[in-house]
Parts: sequence; structure tokens; C-alpha cells
Amino acid sequence: MNILGIETSCDETACAVVRDGREVLANVVYTQIPLHQPYGGVVPEIASRAHIEKIGEVVRTALDAFAAAEPGGRIDAVAVTYGAGLSPALIVGLNAAKGLALALGVPLIGINHIEAHLHTPFLYDAAKGPAGDVPDPTAVMPALGLAISGGHTNWIDVPAYGRYEIIGQTLDDAAGEAFDKAAKLLGLGYPGGPTIDRIAKAYIAEHGLTNLIPFPKGHPREGVSALAGLPAELCVSFSGLKTALLRYVQKERPDAAETPRIVTSYQEAIVQAVAERTRTALKRRAYRALILGGGVSLNSRVRAVLAQVAAEAKVPLLMAQSKYCGDNGAMIAGLAYWRRNHVGDDALRLDVCPSLEAGME
Ligand code: KG4
Ligand code: ZN
Repeated sequence: MNILGIETSCDETACAVVRDGREVLANVVYTQIPLHQPYGGVVPEIASRAHIEKIGEVVRTALDAFAAAEPGGRIDAVAVTYGAGLSPALIVGLNAAKGLALALGVPLIGINHIEAHLHTPFLYDAAKGPAGDVPDPTAVMPALGLAISGGHTNWIDVPAYGRYEIIGQTLDDAAGEAFDKAAKLLGLGYPGGPTIDRIAKAYIAEHGLTNLIPFPKGHPREGVSALAGLPAELCVSFSGLKTALLRYVQKERPDAAETPRIVTSYQEAIVQAVAERTRTALKRRAYRALILGGGVSLNSRVRAVLAQVAAEAKVPLLMAQSKYCGDNGAMIAGLAYWRRNHVGDDALRLDVCPSLEAGME
């Protein structure tokens, strides 16, 4: 079964075709990052207009690549992100997907962006041959999912494939947002995550993890209403970390030579906060895998530390190839194979849901 997936929730215009949920036949991503860079963050109106300009070309290029990969092949369904994301951005992809589903006479499947990030470790490239060591998702259930991106930081219980329940989360900023805000404060440009990762990697290679600034590790206060019934030990708060960085900069007035030590300390606070909650979550159930998804899963230190955490818990750490860590259409098309129950007779009435959370229908 070939599913075409469209993703326009934020600043990537993306379309892919995936066979049977895992084999990627075509994958096209147009990133708008240069358009948003002058503003230090994503501007919804600019994102929406750029999606409108590019969506046709991106879909056409993906269909051409699909035709080359599978001559005479047909598309059996169209999947699309309907949340979470920026409303004016989501609307462009959703309407393109509706038009395409109508034109092709195939069903439309609405997909949750955060759940789709957790599908990325199960994707593999058709051009490179069989799956190799990429597992079938149904073979590693129950799993603990960790979705860490610019918009989300969620610990998610996945009892069976396609079912999701949030068991922990950030109470304020997402991990990627924490990276981006620090980079902005330190004048390192947008997006901040990749830059901080690169600077910290060089610092750690030279100095190890010595002489770091003790930034707070994101412990929320017990009983605060923002926990919304979730256990405090599985929640983080990154707003205090951001404030601690601001205070440090205001008080110490560090020069540029200090930047590597500062960003390494800041990154380490985020990494240790995420690692600690993950360790705790892995003890709560006999999980068979730790699934990592989202843009921050590209971070080299996040990968290394979570690999240790998974090894301690004796579960495999499942991570995507780098090209599937950021937003893409393959994760949408792939997950849709397991979410076909989401197709209703009235699928063409599907609306965007900007604040959709994992596990929400
Ligand atoms: O998943 P994604 O592409 O979009 C969202 O759904 O948010 O994630 C983007 C986020 C940005 O905040 C970016 O700074 C962060 O992922 N990011 C990183 C790295 N690469 C991207 N954060 C830390 N280290 C990285 N190497
Ligand atoms: Zn994303």
C-alpha cells in the first residue's frame, strides 16, 4: 500500500510517498529556515505564504520521484498533518491534501504530528534495499516514546502501535525552544539547537564536562497546577533554566570567549533533565524499546546520553536517520499506514487542530 504524506505544520513544506508504512519511495523537504532567520524565529504569516508558493512543486517532485521508484505504481491514500502546529501553516497542507485525495479518488487520513515524529525510527529508504536492523514497530511494543522538538517535549506511553498516552511533559518551553531562546540571547542565530550542539561538541572534545556552570535541571515544584495530574518526576520546566542563563549573562557580562563553556553548561542541563525523566519513566513499565523522535533528537549529546540510559534499562534506543529527525512527509505517510481507522466518510471535512496532543483524537 502506497501512502502519500503532506506536512506543513511549521517551517518545512514536505511531501513523501511510503510503501507499507516503512519503505520510503520518495521524500521531498523544502525548508523555510532562511526566510525566518532575520526574525529569530518562525513568523506564521511568512510560513503560510511560503507553503502556498512551494506546496505544488514539492508534491509534484515527490510524485515524479515515486513514478521513477515504482513505474506505473498508484497512490492508495493521502495522509496529512492536521495538528499540532501553526494554524495558517497547517491549513495549506490540509487543503492541498484534500484536493489531491479528491483528484485521485482515494481516502484522506489525518495525522498527529507528534505521534508521527515517533514513527521516524521505523522508516528506511527503498533505494538502499531491505530494512536491515530497522524493526517493525509492532515487534517492540510496549515502548516508551520521547518526542523532543521545537514545540514539544513529551514522554509518551505506547502500549500497542498507534496508541499513545502522555505520561510526562514540559510545563513551559519545549527543549528545542530552550535551545533556540538561549541562542537568541547569546546572539548565535536561529535555529539555535544545531549551533549550540556544534559549539558544545568542540568544547567537550577539548575540555570534557569539566568546569561547567551549574544551571538548574528543570525540576518543577510538587503540586503546581500546571502538572495537570501528571507525576512531577516525569515533568520538566525549562523556563527557570532560561532565566538562570539571562541572570548569568547580566551578572557576569561574559565575553565571546566564554560562549562555549556557557552553551555546553546550558545544553548539559537540558540533556540531564531529559535523561533523568527518561530513566524514571523506563522503570515504570516493562518497556521493550525507547523511541526517540523530533528535531532535538539530532543533538549529539542527547543521543549519547539516552543511549546510556537505554543500555542501563536494557532496552534498545530507536532513533531515526538524521534526515527523518526534522519535520518531513515520510513520518506522516508512514504512520498513516497504522492509522487508517482515522479515515471517516467525512474525512474531507477534517479541520486543523493547532493544539493537538499525542493520544488526542
Ligand atoms: O521537529 P522539528 O524539526 O520541528 C518541530 O516540530 O518543532 O524541531 C525543530 C527544533 C528546533 O528548536 C531546533 O533548534 C532543534 O529542533 N534542533 C536541535 C538540533 N537540531 C535541531 N536541538 C539541539 N541540537 C540539535 N542538533
Ligand atoms: Zn516536528
